[in-house]
Order: sequence, then structure tokens, then C-alpha cells
Amino acid sequence: MKNFYITTPIYYVNDRPHIGHAYTTILADVISRQYKFQKINSIFLTGLDEHGQKVEQAAIKNNISPKEHCDSMVPRFKELWDKLNIKYDDFIRTTENRHTTIVKKILQKVYDNGDIYFDEYEGLYSISEERFITEKEAESGIFKDIKKLKEKNYFFKMSAYQQELIEHIKQNPDFIMPDYRKNEVLGFLNKPLNDLCISRPKSRLKWGIELPFDKNYVTYVWFDALINYISSIGYSNSNEKFRKFWPANIHLIGKDILTTHCVYWPTMLMSIGLDLPKTIFAHGWWLNKDSKMSKSVGNVINPLDLIDEFDEDSLRFFLMRDMKLGQDSNFSEELFFTRYNSDLANDLGNLLSRITNLIDKFFEGKLSSGFDKSSRGRIVQVESSKVISFTNECFRKMKINEAIDNSMNCIKSINKYIESMAPWKLVKTDMTAASSVLLTSAEALRISCLSLIAVMPNKMNQALNILGDNSFNCDWGFFENGLTVKKHEPLFPRIDVSIKKNHNKSHKMNPSDNIISYEKFSNIELKVAQIKQVVKIDNSDKLYKIIADIGKSKIQIVSGISKHYNLEDLVGKNIIVVTNLKGSKIFGIQSEGMLLAAKKGKKLSLITSNSDDLVLGEKIY
Ligand code: ME8
Ligand code: MG
Repeated sequence: MKNFYITTPIYYVNDRPHIGHAYTTILADVISRQYKFQKINSIFLTGLDEHGQKVEQAAIKNNISPKEHCDSMVPRFKELWDKLNIKYDDFIRTTENRHTTIVKKILQKVYDNGDIYFDEYEGLYSISEERFITEKEAESGIFKDIKKLKEKNYFFKMSAYQQELIEHIKQNPDFIMPDYRKNEVLGFLNKPLNDLCISRPKSRLKWGIELPFDKNYVTYVWFDALINYISSIGYSNSNEKFRKFWPANIHLIGKDILTTHCVYWPTMLMSIGLDLPKTIFAHGWWLNKDSKMSKSVGNVINPLDLIDEFDEDSLRFFLMRDMKLGQDSNFSEELFFTRYNSDLANDLGNLLSRITNLIDKFFEGKLSSGFDKSSRGRIVQVESSKVISFTNECFRKMKINEAIDNSMNCIKSINKYIESMAPWKLVKTDMTAASSVLLTSAEALRISCLSLIAVMPNKMNQALNILGDNSFNCDWGFFENGLTVKKHEPLFPRIDVSIKKNHNKSHKMNPSDNIISYEKFSNIELKVAQIKQVVKIDNSDKLYKIIADIGKSKIQIVSGISKHYNLEDLVGKNIIVVTNLKGSKIFGIQSEGMLLAAKKGKKLSLITSNSDDLVLGEKIY
């Protein structure tokens, strides 16, 4: 494989993104990173679906134009993707020129080849779904707002391609994945296929792409949206990028949009004479207490709340590990904590600390022996040498959770190996043997971390950095001649679930239960300070060392605000600090106080003051 092209659905901009949207986008990011890791030329596309009735209605509700509404939604998605460390190669908006011109070009082409006709149709129309529905669908009770509608519209001859589509699905076992979704689509295609209504009269909907052959109509939102997968790569047979990346390797979707992707889209492509995507993969739903998380049900979990407290990698790991691709899965904070503590804090995080602490304690941070050539050492070597090729293989089969499972098993084996070899005892009798055990463990861990780098890019890069590897070399033997480890704070500090529970309770605590006396308050020494110097702390993605002026002296504070402020923006700020807090060491660095800050959602803001009447070091009452 030379080129690889993966897409996510383009999300509706009628509401803010939730964990379901985050899941599909993280999954695409993880897959794309894994292919890039293998040096395969890859494109990962995501974006937004901006036309149609839902968006028009949302805009009307907010009293702004649809375009203004869309513009205001874009940052919500992009900022979330940034926070989740999602590195898309292209972000398409269906209101962009590059998209609308291609939609028009395709409509004209399909019209010219006789696949679009004008007809009057009377049928049942679902307002929320924005389409005509069948009698049977109407009886199902799923559709809330149905009305009878008689309207002249343009129709796409989808039925003409029914047989060809059935053949294609049967001959290409990877076209629709997993298998049970393929069977679902084939079942649907057992009945005669209706043609697809692809227009909406402007009298009813204005927010859409005007039909090139009738200015009284706009394009049905799905006919418009699906085309994003080719407009983004510049659909045209003379365009090199298009020829290189089409057909896409994977359209990643949720099972809610199976028919549009597996029936509408392929027949559209057949009409314009393009190859069909290689794989359409429909994953399951994240459920909350066994029902689908969706904004209409009001049970959505905001991913920001979790990464605010933990980090994006732990969430990425949980989502990738706990959903068997294709099936539904339950999401709850408890499940997240349990998974985090057992896999990340206990197995992975502890292994890293254990290895580095032992190397630090007994070998001054540096090993120079060779590997452990004993049979136990060899077993670790054999198992970990295979981890990366196994991971790549699993990704090709879309078995991401199996890949992660395998990496975690390898990590467990390394833990067991250290346990059984007990290098902390070996040091008393045979320093070289102890060193070989630690070196073998470190090498095996290095490779395991590489196998998880697409899932947890930041944390695994940190781990590799601590171990002293920036080579990304996937073969066994990088540490052959030794290594030097760096000091670090725990990569995945354990979550104390009991504290978590109390913490959640304290949010609900009645304020009168938490009254303190004036004496107690006056014991807290709050002072006006000015930030003089800020240094980023190595191997931490949260911490700054801050030196602040408190009048007659200076105070040094280690604070977790580096995600919220740039270094240079902090210097010179007047802030408020607690100066009589018991000192502590954070990341090996002395911290003598605390700064006051407040949260708005995920964002942390320092309490600052520009007042000229404040004197540095002055006590605050
Ligand atoms: O359907 N669990 O956009 P949309 C897992 N604009 N995934 C979920 C989910 C959940 N609970 N909820 C949403 C549209 N998703 C169209 C797509 S494509 C040409 C046009 C994910 O904003 C999942 O990928 O309703 C699902 O298919 C998608 O969000 C639907 O997003
Ligand atoms: Mg939806």
C-alpha cells in the first residue's frame, strides 16, 4: 500500500460536538497515525455538514444568518479536535467554494446523463429526518413529525443501480464492514429501491446549494454532503491528488448513517462513473446506561469534562480499548476510572516508574550491559519483537482493540518478568545480571510504547523520551549498548476513586455546611505578587515553575497551568498567591505556594489585577 485515505462523517453544525463525534474522529486519527507511522502517504479528512433544514432552524432560533451560525460552530469543533490531539490533514466545510462548485458540477453531470428527472410526488415526509419516508417507516413510530406532502421535485434514479450495487457488495467482502452491517444493507436491497428525492423547493428551504439546472430549488442535504469525500481532494480526473487518493480506503461512520453511505453514495458514484470506496466501516454507538447518547435524549457526556481533569491520551485510550469495533459500548466515568487505574496507572505507568527507579537507584540512571540472554529474557524479547507488526496487522483488519489488548499483554509480561527476576535482589550478587534484566525490560517497554503511539501520542512520546529513545526504531535492539533514563513524575498518576466520589459530593454540598470562622480565613496568607520568570518543566505537559515577586522577597511556585497560558504571556502579570502553604516537591522541584485561579468550563484563568493601588507583597483581606 502506497497511499491511504480515511474519512469521518462530516458532522451537523446544529449543535456542539459530544463524545460520539469525538470517538469517530479519534478513531480516524488513531488509524491515520498508525499508517503514517508506517510511512504510508496518508490523508485524514474530517469536516462539517453545514446545509439543510436543521442548520437553518438552529440559525433562526439564534436570530443570526445560517452562515454566521456555521462560522460560530467551526471553532467548537476545531478546538475540541486540537485538545484531543487530532491531526486531520483536511477539514472541509460544505459551504466552501471548493465543495459547492463540485456539487454543482456533479449534479449537472448526473442530470445530463439522464439520471435525474422531475416529478410530482405525494408522500409522507418526516420533518426531523428531512426526507420522504415509506408507509412502513411511518408505522414504525420512530418518526415524530410526519406530514403529508405533495410536491414537484427532482429525483435521482437510484433504482437503476440496485442490481449493480448488490453485485458489488457480494463480490467485495470488505466493501461494507463489519459483516453484519453488510447483511443489513443486503437485506434492505432485497426490496425494490425507490428513487431518491434530491431537491427541496426554495419556498420551503433556502439554505442549500442551488440546483445548476433550476434556480427554484436547492440540493437535498445528503446529496450535497456525501460529495465532500471527493470534493476535498479536488474531484477531477485530471487532478493528480484525486487520482492518487480516490477511491478512499475507509469511510468511517456510525451505524446510524449506514443507508446513506452504503446505498445513496455508491449509486451516486456509479452514475458519475467513479470507483467505489474500498471500505465503509460502521461502528457502534456509545451508550449511556444502555441507551444511545444523543443530544435529543439529553444524556451526552462532554469529552472536555474528562480531559480537563485527566489528559486527552487517557480518554483516547479508553475509547479505543473499550469499544469492540462495530459493537455498542457503555460509557461512564466509573468505567473510565477503572480502566485508567488498571491499565494505565498500574500496568503501564508503574512499569515505567519501576524500571527507571531501579536504574536510578542502583545504576545512577545509566545502564551499559547487554541484554539478558537467559531463556526468560529471550521470551520477553520474542514477545515484544512481534508487537508492532501485530499492531499493524490488526489495524489492517480494523481490530484496533485487539491491537491494544496485545500491547497491554506484552506490558503485563514485562511486569511479570521483572517480578520473577527480582533485579533489586540480583544487584546484591550480580550487578551485570541485574543490569541485563533492566535493559531487556526497558527495550521491551520501549517497543510496547511505540506500538501504542498512535493511540496516545503525547504520553508515549514522553515515555520514550524518559527512556532516552527518539529514534522510533521498531526493531529489537535499540538499547543494545545501554541507555540513560530521565527523572520523571508518574506518567499516569493513580486516580483515587474514593476521593473522586467525595469530590463529586462536595460539589453538591450545601454551602452552609462549609462555613469557616473569620480566624480560620485570616490564617490564610494571600498576597499580591507579580510574575517575574516562568520556566516549563521538562517531561511534564502541565507544569510551569513560576518565580513571583512578593515585595521584599520572591516565591517559587510549581503550577499546572501550562495548557492555559503561554510562557511569555505570564511574565509581568499581577496575581494573587497563597504564601503560607506548607511547601512540597512537585516533579522534584520545590513549590512554596499557590496561585489563585478560576475555571470556566475547561479554561483556567488566573485572578489578576491591573489596579495601580496594589503594592507587591501586600496582604489581601
Ligand atoms: O449524521 N456513539 O452528522 P451527525 C458513537 N451530517 N458515535 C456517534 C454517536 C454515539 N452515541 N453519536 C454520534 C450526520 N456519533 C451527517 C453525516 S456524512 C457525509 C454526513 C458519530 O452530526 C457517528 O460517527 O449526526 C455518527 O455517524 C456521526 O457522529 C453522526 O454525526
Ligand atoms: Mg445524527
